[in-house]
Amino acid sequence: MPGPGKGRTLEAIVEFLDLPPLLGANGTVRLPGSKSISNRILLLAALADGVTDIRDLLESDDVARMLEALASLGIRWVRQEGRDDYQVQGVGGGFPVKAADLFLGNAGTAFRPLTAALAFSGGDYRLSGVPRMHERPIGDLVDALRQLGAQVTYLGESGYPPLHVMPGTLTPGGVVRVRGDVSSQFLTALLMALPLAGVETTVEVVGELISKPYIGITLDLMARFGVQVRREGWRRFTVPGGARYRSPGTIFVEGDASSASYFLAAGAIGGGPVRVEGVGRNSIQGDVRFAEALEALGVRIEMGDNWIEARGPVQGKLKAFDLDLNHIPDAAMTLAVAALFADGPCRLRNIASWRVKETDRISAMAIELRKVGARVEEGGDYLVVVPPPRLISQAGIDTYDDHRMAMCFSLVSLGGVAVRIHDPKCVNKTFPTYFTAFSAVATPVPVIAIDGPSASGKGTVAAQVADALGFHCLDSGSLYRLVALAALRADVALEDEAWLAAAASSLDVEFRGDRVLLGGEDVTAGIRTEDCSAGASRVATYPSVREALVRRQRDFRRPPGLVADGRDMGSVIFPDAEKKFFLTASVEARADRRYKQLIEKGLPANISDLSQELRLRDERDANRPVAPLRKMPEAILIDSSAMTVDEVVAEVLDRVRSPT
Ligand code: DC
Repeated sequence: MPGPGKGRTLEAIVEFLDLPPLLGANGTVRLPGSKSISNRILLLAALADGVTDIRDLLESDDVARMLEALASLGIRWVRQEGRDDYQVQGVGGGFPVKAADLFLGNAGTAFRPLTAALAFSGGDYRLSGVPRMHERPIGDLVDALRQLGAQVTYLGESGYPPLHVMPGTLTPGGVVRVRGDVSSQFLTALLMALPLAGVETTVEVVGELISKPYIGITLDLMARFGVQVRREGWRRFTVPGGARYRSPGTIFVEGDASSASYFLAAGAIGGGPVRVEGVGRNSIQGDVRFAEALEALGVRIEMGDNWIEARGPVQGKLKAFDLDLNHIPDAAMTLAVAALFADGPCRLRNIASWRVKETDRISAMAIELRKVGARVEEGGDYLVVVPPPRLISQAGIDTYDDHRMAMCFSLVSLGGVAVRIHDPKCVNKTFPTYFTAFSAVATPVPVIAIDGPSASGKGTVAAQVADALGFHCLDSGSLYRLVALAALRADVALEDEAWLAAAASSLDVEFRGDRVLLGGEDVTAGIRTEDCSAGASRVATYPSVREALVRRQRDFRRPPGLVADGRDMGSVIFPDAEKKFFLTASVEARADRRYKQLIEKGLPANISDLSQELRLRDERDANRPVAPLRKMPEAILIDSSAMTVDEVVAEVLDRVRSPT
């Protein structure tokens, strides 16, 4: 369904991805493994005694950074051929390699825990990442490690990566304090490293601990590797002396609950039901509570041990909400976009951690939501989203190298919006196959494309098919005719490409029923003259004119559907059209029809001149370098030379209604 720009797959360099407007969403998605669980398990397996078999590890950039780092640190791991299953040989303590330079991309789930584990490994290590990683604070973790005697220094700005970890004499035991109000990953990092100390140590959290469920995941996984942390509320955590990680043998990575949020929201907004498999009632991930948040919006949720299903509210629209989302910071982003579909202003509270994630997510979210027409109020730790009465029908969304921005904004297409996602490959961080999975549950607004040469009867057929289906109709040729008319009226040469392109992008046109208005004037008849027909075929050869009209044509794709006729409907404007037709007829038959039309109107006509003119236009339309008229292999050919209009309409409708 999606149309990538500049390249075909996400592995290639793709600058943008066009998602068509959608009618709805339903289906089932098997989720990829959780990033948080994958990277924690990898580290624990490396530090543990024994061999760990990991099943369903997430395949993504962040996990790849962790795997590379572990290999550089002397950890042996192998991947099962063609599967997401890995075997890790634990070293039963600190890392064997005592000097290394690690590049960790933008993977916070690798950077923070490795920093702590390396501080306990007694070697000389440098850790760096992409520029954004160097803007994400790590001072609170370094401060805590220094309390334990670790030698950690900043290689750039104080408080931020890159870091230098040096061998030092550690003095664990007693109480170490760490701030918990910027990122819960600092506490996670400390807790996972402390069993390397060998001495009972208590971690005391300073400030209100955010994202508590992520600490829940950490404690659960440490327990599966044999280390029980004693917890007093969310303030004190004690790692017992002599604790050692032991491999649990085989361990399964749950599906990613944050990734589930996009599909559950799609079911909520697009009717559903949409079911995700891989997380459910038994999940250890806090983000499964996103389902509860959706319930507060009126969404109907069902849950099994290993699946969750969402369908839209009975009343249709989502209920406006005012929610504290501190416990589900990642999935909460999905709610910010869902707010566009609510019946009133929505408030997302207690989301300050968004500011130090892959990008400043509060600011990025506000900017992009405004692009589709929302009013947004942005605070230090909150967002208020006021949904517009109608979303703006086309939007180019910037993604800030943030996978979640890209995934969230795919949902806007459920509002009948044609969405262009810039830099879509940023989803590789956690979900490289996201857009394929999304298309699998998405139902695009259907387009019936009818292309063919001049006077083949496309216009009449398209209008009647649209009528029968209750769809909108686009006569794309009329746009080229309007540009030609504007030039003829302004006495501008039809060779003046720059003028024509400017006219095309600023056409003040309105389609009112079967009337066409230019600048308020009815030009329905004016654009049908032979002069205008010939002029249209000439202006249509200019790439810049065609480009200027693309957006205008796609804007016609609105629920419940569109019938579009022209030359390049199925090839360029709507390449993902549900059904494509190529309607043609012999030159003789077309000239004869045109002749009768003109005579009926009392206009002078000569059949051989008309044939000659049609041949000329056919040749120009078919041989121009941009968007030439051609039959797409998948298009259904209808030769109407010996058919009536009614017969052609019946055949098109028959094909549209048949399943294949
Ligand atoms: O379909 P029509 O005769 O109204 O189109 C007028 C001209 O516009 C035709 O000669 C070619 C051009 N055209 C085009 O290039 N691409 C389209 N999609 C539609 C029309």
